[in-house]
Amino acid sequence: MIRKATFLVSNSDLTKCPKPDRAEIAFIGRSNVGKSSLINMLTGVKELAKTSQKPGKTQLINHFTIDDRWFLVDLPGYGFAKVSKDKKVKWEKMISEYLTTRSNLCGVFVLIDSRHEPQQIDLDFVNALGGWQIPFVLVFTKADKDKPGATLRHRDEFLQALMETWEEAPPHVITSAVDRRGRPELLKHIAQLNQEYRPT
Ligand code: GTP
Ligand code: MG
Repeated sequence: MIRKATFLVSNSDLTKCPKPDRAEIAFIGRSNVGKSSLINMLTGVKELAKTSQKPGKTQLINHFTIDDRWFLVDLPGYGFAKVSKDKKVKWEKMISEYLTTRSNLCGVFVLIDSRHEPQQIDLDFVNALGGWQIPFVLVFTKADKDKPGATLRHRDEFLQALMETWEEAPPHVITSAVDRRGRPELLKHIAQLNQEYRPT
């Protein structure tokens, strides 16, 4: 259950992120995959995270406080073609630094657009998380946009592609911000990550 969700701070400077004094879960994935929409669906607050039809809306690391107990983080998307090389490198540096140094990070939800065949950029990102030993859940988004068979096929193809480098399939959930499917499963993962959190 999420009872209260409030925006806390936006920044690109990791040293200005809130004090890491509680569990933190981050949402990441390709630009336009539906991160901000999913956060709004999960928290039940309509415009908590800003969404847009244009990719590249979320540019900063955005912290939200949930139930005064844990931090939810909306990260800028990767793989946005119209971004300059310089900006891409900056993004990669900021995100990899955040992911590898944030002491209270319990896990990451990696969003994958369920309408597409496996994309190399998503596989690369998931493999990088594995290398950093960061727990993650795969979240297949926008399931309302396709026939159920196609969604399942794309999910299975993605998991299969991962099995080339992984021994077992990571946890995964099919979701839609429109019809709200997958919400209970996501909340269960959130509860579990929070439970496993031990302050350092
Ligand atoms: P960036 O911040 O640019 O990286 O994008 P984002 O991943 O936060 O995506 P955002 O939530 O802004 O959504 C992008 C577009 O997809 C918007 O037009 C949303 O309305 C739409 N969208 C997001 N989730 C869903 C969904 O589950 N179903 C449908 N049909 N549309 C969705
Ligand atoms: Mg966004």
